[in-house]
Amino acid sequence: MLEGKIVLLGISGGIAAYKSAELARLLVKEGCTVQVVMTEAACEFISPLTFKTLTGRPVYCSLFEKSHSSATAHIDLAREPHLALIAPATANIIGKIRAGIADDLLSTVLMAMDRGRSPVIFSPSMNSTMFSSPAVRDNIKVLRQRGYLVVEPGEGFLACGEVGEGRMVEPPQLVTYLKSIIAREEGDYTGLTVLVTAGPTREPLDPVRYFGNLSSGKMGYALARAASERGARVILISGPTALDPPEKVHLSLVSSAREMYHAVMEEYPNVDIVIKTAAVADYRPEECFPEKVKKGKEIEVKLVRNPDILKELGLNKKGQFLVGFAAETEDLLDNANKKMKEKNLDMVVANDLGVEGAGFATDTNVVHVLYRDGFVEEFPIMDKYQLSHLILDRIISLRSS
Ligand code: CTP
Repeated sequence: MLEGKIVLLGISGGIAAYKSAELARLLVKEGCTVQVVMTEAACEFISPLTFKTLTGRPVYCSLFEKSHSSATAHIDLAREPHLALIAPATANIIGKIRAGIADDLLSTVLMAMDRGRSPVIFSPSMNSTMFSSPAVRDNIKVLRQRGYLVVEPGEGFLACGEVGEGRMVEPPQLVTYLKSIIAREEGDYTGLTVLVTAGPTREPLDPVRYFGNLSSGKMGYALARAASERGARVILISGPTALDPPEKVHLSLVSSAREMYHAVMEEYPNVDIVIKTAAVADYRPEECFPEKVKKGKEIEVKLVRNPDILKELGLNKKGQFLVGFAAETEDLLDNANKKMKEKNLDMVVANDLGVEGAGFATDTNVVHVLYRDGFVEEFPIMDKYQLSHLILDRIISLRSS
């Protein structure tokens, strides 16, 4: 998958620069052309000669090098790569790209890259206090909003002696990540139809009132967008939300659980993958009053069960890959596992509503992904769009295994 790809490996000045030698070696082994660009500070940690030897190519460190074949070398370097990976990415290079400062070769090349064509990925590495500082967090957030990819660093023993978050992701994992990025760029969902349900349902009590829930629809809309960008034909069946639908997605708006049930059942025979992020109301008022209920004496509302859409899909599975979401406030993994079995699912994305950054109305989520073979993968807090791609990566590799 990486064979024949041109990768710009940007190395900024952190101690993890020693790991980049292994990274360069692995990328060359995968068949990539690796063009290394180093900052001056990076050259203090590891010699450009190491990378020249590993990649078989000149290594560039300065805007004004005599070895540049043209005066616009930074533009040439920016045009060629299929993607750029900055590893390690220090707080400095992250801050510079966020702020638009291009004062050395690496920052200039990165700013000159057309990210519509070549993704730019940062793999941060720094002291955990620096990593959690408001400035760095904010810079990373803005970079992501602008379409840059930022890999979450690992936790562990740091060079400064502290233990915490900030370790550069290990080279083999970064190579795996690059493969998934290339797969996304090449449209790995082309030819597949993905049905996503999103948002809450509203269960009417009278013409102006309903029972509902706090779901914002953000997770489902992010998944629909990500699947569509990867080439899928996407059908988004959504309860009421305040969100704009992603481009190129076929949107079907519903309100109640029963409307969602009918819309989903109609599409089900013709889809390959179903991702049910919708927070479907399990109950509805037995009776919907025809006129607005006037206040007066106490009323009792009897709630009756709604169809369990996902369970019905699981019972009638004909090759479709089914992904359920489980939002829990207790016994997260046990409850999510039960849902996987009861609804005959292939994967469950479980989130603990009690964890900060997880849940309904947030832009981020914190999830565990459960697989049929019992394996459980835990993801750190991340924004819902980024998480969507990781979920789609897992689905596509399970479907093809
Ligand atoms: N779901 C569904 N139809 C329902 C209820 C839920 O299709 N009537 C789907 C949701 O879209 C989600 C999964 O089932 O993908 C789990 O939903 P959740 O609300 O977490 O659990 P429930 O199955 O409703 O069980 P409980 O409310 O008892 O936790």
